Amino acid sequence: MSDTLKAFRGDILHFLGDPAQMPSEKSYQYLEDGLMLVHNGRIEALGKAEEMLADLPAGTEVIHHTDGLIAPGFIDTHIHYPQTEMIGSYGEQLLEWLDTYTFPTETQFKDREYASQRAEFFLDQLLSNGTTTALVFGTVHPESVDAFFEHAQAKNLRMICGKVLMDRNAPEELTDCADSGYEQSKALIEKWHGRDRLQYAVTPRFAPTCSSEQMHRAAELLKEYPDVYMHTHLSENANEVVWVSELFPDSKHYLDAYDQHGLLGKRSVFAHGIHLCEDECQRLAESQSALSFCPTSNLFLGSGLFNLKQAEQYNIKVGLGTDVGAGTSFSILQTLNEAYKTQQLRGEKLTPLKSFYLATLGGARALDLDDKIGNFTVGKEADFVVLDYKATPLMDLRMQQCRDLMERLFVLSILGDDRAIRATYVMGEQAHQRDEK
Ligand code: GUN
Ligand code: ZN
Repeated sequence: MSDTLKAFRGDILHFLGDPAQMPSEKSYQYLEDGLMLVHNGRIEALGKAEEMLADLPAGTEVIHHTDGLIAPGFIDTHIHYPQTEMIGSYGEQLLEWLDTYTFPTETQFKDREYASQRAEFFLDQLLSNGTTTALVFGTVHPESVDAFFEHAQAKNLRMICGKVLMDRNAPEELTDCADSGYEQSKALIEKWHGRDRLQYAVTPRFAPTCSSEQMHRAAELLKEYPDVYMHTHLSENANEVVWVSELFPDSKHYLDAYDQHGLLGKRSVFAHGIHLCEDECQRLAESQSALSFCPTSNLFLGSGLFNLKQAEQYNIKVGLGTDVGAGTSFSILQTLNEAYKTQQLRGEKLTPLKSFYLATLGGARALDLDDKIGNFTVGKEADFVVLDYKATPLMDLRMQQCRDLMERLFVLSILGDDRAIRATYVMGEQAHQRDEK
């Protein structure tokens, strides 16, 4: 690779910690007219433009973004790429929604060419929404994961994906068995995990569709490959919780069905976690497992209101997830909009700082990737977005009333969507430009 040095100039915001766990003014760095130096795709330096410009090596390209905000790329900690085409399917809650819409759709991903077309479309949706890293469900078919990783690799994206493990309570053509699930996952790990920016997630769909034997085999993979992820669903819907207690009568609670099989850990990510007891919170925290907060999905399927305060009190790692296709938008900004409303309904305030923390560094911590992405400290991979404060006439008008950064961030999170993503950069290279002719 040729040696490249680029400078990005504009207002820059990134996080150094969780604003809910420290004095909030220390949790972030905001540079009005800042400069970010990117060397071979990584952050080399960050500071005030007026101080750094004079010292730039002669001929350095300076890309200036005015009227916007440069922020780390958004991180989506839970999404299903095969469900893109069924987003917004009417009328059902989780278990009926799976049978009516999800399983028939996922059947089509046995066709490699079909999967390939959908994977490419999906990744373009992520980039146009400013999302540069995601933890992604494939389907039960290994071909679906091959197709996904091929496109992610071609775009040089940091992505995590896995083949669904599901050996019961699902249509015949969508089930594997404990042994084939293990073998196919192992082959995919060997092929893709750690290649360029790609990583693998062992992906048992959820306890109702995985036998005890299948979960044991999943845990074997985690032992053999300690740095792969474990990605599943947890305690999303009240009927699901009852079903799990019937299927796993020896479990103390839903999480315990996974815990008894050795599926908790620093690289384990559980989507939803709406109906958790104190003991489940305790175990999530002490095992350093993460929760993915998916508000658009939780409202759409009528699943419930995530208890962010409780997660904070237990010090559980939390990231944001869109959970498309139960989630109704690829946009992390729209996800923040709905996140805010879920907390209003709980009588809690989701601050703009906490929102943008969750969208960036919080997500990186949930995915145990905060040594690589999530903020602009020196050495990090330069995945970032340029947000447009004046993306629409209404945003422009509303922004004129804002007195400070916090108000502008809040308006971005309530009114913003893909129109507010002016550009998305991956390792310092532009991967999406909104106004491309
Ligand atoms: N639980 C098991 N599978 C799924 C899924 O595909 N989407 C959601 N939201 N929950 C699930
Ligand atoms: Zn999901």
